[in-house]
Amino acid sequence: MEKYDYVIVGAGLFGATFAYEAKKRGKKCLVIDRRNHLGGNIYCENVEGINVHKYGAHIFHTSSKYIWDYVNQFVEFNRYTNSPVANYKGEIYNLPFNMNTFNKLWGVIRPEEAKAKIEEQKKAANITKPSNLEEQAISLVGTDIYEKLVKGYTEKQWGRKATELPAFIINRLPVRFTYDNNYFNDSYQGIPIGGYNVIIDKMLEGIDTELETDYFEEKERLDNLADKIVFTGMIDEYYDYRFGNLEYRSLKFEHEIVDSPNYQGNAVVNYTDSETPYTRIIEHKHFEFGTQEKTVITKEYPKEWGKGDEPYYPVNDEKNTALYKKYKQLADQEENVIFGGRLATYKYYDMHHIISQSLKTVAKELGSRPLVSPAEN
Ligand code: FDA
Repeated sequence: MEKYDYVIVGAGLFGATFAYEAKKRGKKCLVIDRRNHLGGNIYCENVEGINVHKYGAHIFHTSSKYIWDYVNQFVEFNRYTNSPVANYKGEIYNLPFNMNTFNKLWGVIRPEEAKAKIEEQKKAANITKPSNLEEQAISLVGTDIYEKLVKGYTEKQWGRKATELPAFIINRLPVRFTYDNNYFNDSYQGIPIGGYNVIIDKMLEGIDTELETDYFEEKERLDNLADKIVFTGMIDEYYDYRFGNLEYRSLKFEHEIVDSPNYQGNAVVNYTDSETPYTRIIEHKHFEFGTQEKTVITKEYPKEWGKGDEPYYPVNDEKNTALYKKYKQLADQEENVIFGGRLATYKYYDMHHIISQSLKTVAKELGSRPLVSPAEN
């Protein structure tokens, strides 16, 4: 029986980064996943020659030159810049909230006029101590932006009225007084040319993988294959939900092939009214400036999570945070299991955070090494 240094549970970005780095340090890894493909949530499915982001739109962005150089060793990135638009009952607004948005809302042209308008609305609302999300949002951006661009979207996301949601969910609502539609403030962003699978395939080149393999169904066999387990699945599932299950928000994706070269003219359109049941429509070809004859769109419906659904967003409220701490205490005592990635640490992370977290985990486990070895330069 082949013996590995590590069996890595989960072929997502955390597991793949760990495997790639461990291999560079002479370690032998087996990467398993219960799904029928590698890549975890960044996996893309080729439909009509278009890379469809199967588990939701993924745009790589970072301010770390180190992480940017790291991912660029696997793939080149295109010049895609995330500039979503909002559709409120047929009215189109630029996001994030910026001078283009304010011009459309109020006809204002200069930043001082926009600032004055927001201040006027905040003052009129006279909220000194926000007691729920609605009051918090209005106290930050005024009533018009809240009513047209925040309320419906947020209520759909959480499945609850904004007046019933706690204020702390929204700490700040970034407002930009320039005509800049770039959603991110990061120094680097883009989409991998050829899609995200290129990164994962390069990372896992020459590494053994097993798909459609659930760790819990074959725990004994897999534990016996390696000295250590790297676990990137759900931490509560690892401990058989002994303290209860951690809560998530989930999503339902409705993919559709449309017989037209261009459906909505933008990769991301948010539907910010309450009546439209989905929160956004993604048109995947625009991530890669696609010129295919057809197009693929995905409608995104937020929903409550139940066992068997994909866990997308952790609900980091008091109750779940306390529960996670109990599981983490158990995890900290494990000598031969390393917990990493978004599910095992019960936290929303962007891709650049996950790579960084995985690199730090490898460095702690196996010692650090240069980003690119001299032979690869
Ligand atoms: P990931 O979930 O990818 O991988 C874990 C793997 O473990 C899965 O493949 C799963 O099947 C497997 N697994 C779990 N339990 C198992 C078991 N018992 N046995 C075998 N396999 C098991 N980030 C960003 O930078 N820009 C963006 O635009 C977005 N967009 C975005 C949209 C949506 C809707 C979400 C939910 C998330 C994003 N992200 C993002 C975040 C991004 O998806 C995230 O950072 C990484 O995919 C996390 O990688 P992991 O490896 O941690 O988990």
